[in-house]
Amino acid sequence: MRYLSRAAVLSPSPLVASFRLLQMKTPTLPAIVAALSFIAAPWSIAETSSVPDTMRAAAIDRGGDAETLSIHQVPVRMPKAGEVLIAVKAAGVGVWQAKYRPRDSDDTHFPVILGSDGAGTVAAIGTGVRGFKVGDEVYGTNGAFYAEYVTVQAENVAHVPRGINPTEAGILGISGLSALQGIDDALNLRSGEKLIIHGAAGGVGTLAVQFAKLRGAKVLATVSDEAGAALVSRLGADVVVNGRTADIAAAARSFAPDGVDAVLGLAGGEALEHCIDALRHDGRGRVTYLYGMEPIPKPRFGIRMVLYSYIPGVREFEQLNKAVEAAKLQVPIAAEYPLADAAEAHKRLEAGHLLGKIVVRVR
Ligand SMILES: NC(=O)c1ccc[n+]([C@@H]2O[C@H](COP(=O)([O-])OP(=O)(O)OC[C@H]3O[C@@H](n4cnc5c(N)ncnc54)[C@H](OP(=O)(O)O)[C@@H]3O)[C@@H](O)[C@H]2O)c1
Repeated sequence: MRYLSRAAVLSPSPLVASFRLLQMKTPTLPAIVAALSFIAAPWSIAETSSVPDTMRAAAIDRGGDAETLSIHQVPVRMPKAGEVLIAVKAAGVGVWQAKYRPRDSDDTHFPVILGSDGAGTVAAIGTGVRGFKVGDEVYGTNGAFYAEYVTVQAENVAHVPRGINPTEAGILGISGLSALQGIDDALNLRSGEKLIIHGAAGGVGTLAVQFAKLRGAKVLATVSDEAGAALVSRLGADVVVNGRTADIAAAARSFAPDGVDAVLGLAGGEALEHCIDALRHDGRGRVTYLYGMEPIPKPRFGIRMVLYSYIPGVREFEQLNKAVEAAKLQVPIAAEYPLADAAEAHKRLEAGHLLGKIVVRVR
């Protein structure tokens, strides 16, 4: 067990303080008191968290199927300057993880801990980090979250917004940023505009429906089954269409006789092409789709097509938290698995037809 106090990373070390004292020819009483207080600081600060040397993590030793994912005992990496150590409670299971899990290259250093977003409590803070203290409930992205602890750059971490519980926060980071940035930045959606969200029942789509409604748009959502239709209707979609079986062109014509203003593409293929065909043709129609979605849509004359990826950052998380609270966001959890069953979570992921996103519960 390793004990770390915030003072230990923020204060000059006892050695430095003692050295300063020795440099003075005739130390004054205040100088002696100041130096002794530096020496005592690491042991007298209340903000302390106990962090073990090793932890459990779900990792792969080689590229392969879901069974390659198993529990490993690995060292806990303490935060460097600008980083935060999170004691993970829940991690998101992104659809891309199953896609990239089988791939490995010569420069892959195994074991690789999976998981790109998650939530938990701050366990330790590196130098230079502002705005967090040990014990804060946070969520974040760009780390290896299928583990009891994860070290993340502080700008990729934010406090959990009001109304969101720790399990929901575990899947909010990437899907939330992707949904909001699609609506606000890539599409620049305005109140009263008409939007098609194609693939609306998944991780990003269920949140995008709610952000589009928050911005005052009218939403036609496509889903792949009845359960998805019921979910996105409950989340606020104005019209819901089965994107596998229904006539998307006819549904879009009756939804927006002059053409829809925008399309958010979350699933590639023929049905997405029909959604894009439904856009207005006066130069104001636009479509955006996320990097990783396949196949990508065919280019069209007179239609703005924007490929984008989520961007984390202090400002980006502030905007997300504001939108989450304003929308009273609901975060649908498709299924929950304990960390030990991460392989089962990946098998469920590969089976598809998820309503929202899968979460791995770590503690
Ligand atoms: N680059 C980035 O920053 C970034 C971030 C997040 C996500 N992504 C990518 O963005 C895409 C969406 O992410 P996600 O997490 O929302 O994925 P997801 O949870 O799998 O959602 C996609 C949804 O589309 C549905 N769908 C497929 N074909 C359909 C059709 N013809 N009609 C109606 N619905 C259909 C799927 O249903 P079924 O499961 O029933 O097929 C699923 O519900 C993925 O490709 C992901 O890799 C990229």
